[in-house]
Parts: sequence; structure tokens; C-alpha cells
Amino acid sequence: MFRTAIKMAPTSASDIPSLNLLYKLNKLKVSELGPLKGASPVHNDRIGLFHGDITTLSVDAIVNAANTSLLGGGGVDGAIHRAAGPGLLAECRTLGGCPTGSSKITSGYNLPCNKVIHTVGPIYDYTQATESEKDLRNCYLSSLELATQNGVKTIAFSAISTGVYDYPSEDAAHVACDTVRKYMDGDDTKSLDKVIFVTFEKKDYMAYSSLLPHHFPPSVPASQDQDNITRGQAVEAEVKASHLPNVPTTDPADSGHVPKKRSQVSGE
Ligand code: APR
Repeated sequence: MFRTAIKMAPTSASDIPSLNLLYKLNKLKVSELGPLKGASPVHNDRIGLFHGDITTLSVDAIVNAANTSLLGGGGVDGAIHRAAGPGLLAECRTLGGCPTGSSKITSGYNLPCNKVIHTVGPIYDYTQATESEKDLRNCYLSSLELATQNGVKTIAFSAISTGVYDYPSEDAAHVACDTVRKYMDGDDTKSLDKVIFVTFEKKDYMAYSSLLPHHFPPSVPASQDQDNITRGQAVEAEVKASHLPNVPTTDPADSGHVPKKRSQVSGE
């Protein structure tokens, strides 16, 4: 059956509500776990959460969950290469691959974003969980460093390793939030205007919805903050929220996933 691909209008970084706005809208709730030691609300205007297809984001850079060959694959890697067109693969062929935990940057070609940062996440190994965590942390850190070196101001991360590479969603979200917060804590020049976490499957949306308030708690108790919201802010917030994908109830029909059989992981 021939299906016409419905082209989503690109979503810009400013269209994606910050954590502060999500707290005000009561779309994010204070964490039952309470704030993590070292957690901070200072970055809440520069952190965003987007549930949907990362290839529709018109941000400075999107972060691809690639493999060591950098020659494409399934999942988000496949979606990005399909949307970018052949120019992306041609440039990737010149990069000579990429080790796990590292990142390389290319142009975005037909994508609405300017750049693609390709990072290679770990294939989760529960018998070497510390090693897997170190590699995943390095994916986020090397992507942020590469972004800053290339003048990227708005960056959107897919949930690295949580698909074919089988990294448990909550553990991966914890590593992602912790690494991004610590990077932003140390980034005195505030080189990044917005860091967006992108979820595609419900399991990851639930993981980030529960862990973001743990790492980036509201600056005041959400209920009080809601009382302080101005009418204009409320209208602005509702308009932004109305343009965003709905809270997931099911997983995407066609996530282009390679089944989670490690032997099938391409390029490894
Ligand atoms: N937009 C945003 N996120 C997406 C999209 C999309 N269009 N498609 C999939 N995802 C999400 C998945 O739901 C998952 O949360 O990206 C995350 C990473 O999953 P994978 O793409 O399977 O990547 P990963 O688990 O890191 O495995 C990498 O899979 O596709 C191959 O070439 C890739 O060999 C590499 C391996």
C-alpha cells in the first residue's frame, strides 16, 4: 500500500517548551524522589523535552545514535539518513568511522537542522554496567564539547543506546541528565542556549518525565509557581503546548527499528 509521508512542519528550538514552562503548565511534576544531590533549577529555561521525530527539528544540531562505521543503520540513524539524503552518507564515508563513546559532526543536508552530531553509544552490557555508563556519559560529553567547538547554540539529543543497543531507559536518562547538568554547571559562558532531550517511544518519555524533575527541579514548588504565572504566559504556554506532539499513549507505529538482536546490529 502506498503511503504518502506526511511532512511535519519543522519545529524550532523556541517552539519547544523549557522545563520552567512545563512545570508552569503542570506537564512535569515535582519528582517523588526529591531533587538529586547537586540538582539545580538554574538551567531550567535552557533545557527542553520534545516527544517526536528528531528529524523534524530545525535546531542548530541533532545528535544521532550511530554505530562505529558511521555508515547508517536502523532506528534514529536510519531516519536521519533517510531525511538528510545521500549527501550525509557521502560525508560520513570521509570520516573513517567513530569509536564508542566518541562523536563526529557533519552538515545536515536536507534536514531542517544545520548539523548532525553522530555519537556511538555502548551496546548495553549488564555484566559491565559501569563500563557502559562511562561510554554513554562520554557520548553526551563529547557531543556537547563538539557542539560548543562548532558554535552550536541549540542541540537536540536522541535517547542514545536505548533502542537496538538495549540500554535501560531510566538508567540512560539518568546518565544523560546528569552529564548535561554537570556540563552546563561548568559552562560559565553559557555557550548553549537550549539542550533538548528527544524521546520517541513511550518508555523513554516516561523515563525523562520522571528523571528531569530529579535533576532539574522547579525553582519554586510547582503549585506556587503556577499562581505566579501571568495571563500572557499562560496563553503563550498553551499555544506552545498545543503545537507539540501529544503525550504518548502508544509507541510509534513505524520507528524503523532494527529488532533488538545484537547480531543484527549493522556496522558493528
Ligand atoms: N526520532 C527520535 N528518536 C528516535 C527516532 C526518531 N525518528 N527513531 C528512533 N528513535 C529513538 C529510539 O526510540 C531510541 O529511544 O532513538 C533511540 C535510540 O535507538 P536506536 O536508533 O535503536 O539507537 P541505539 O539504541 O543507540 O542503537 C544504535 O542501531 O540503528 C542502529 O545504526 C544504528 O547500529 C546503530 C544502533
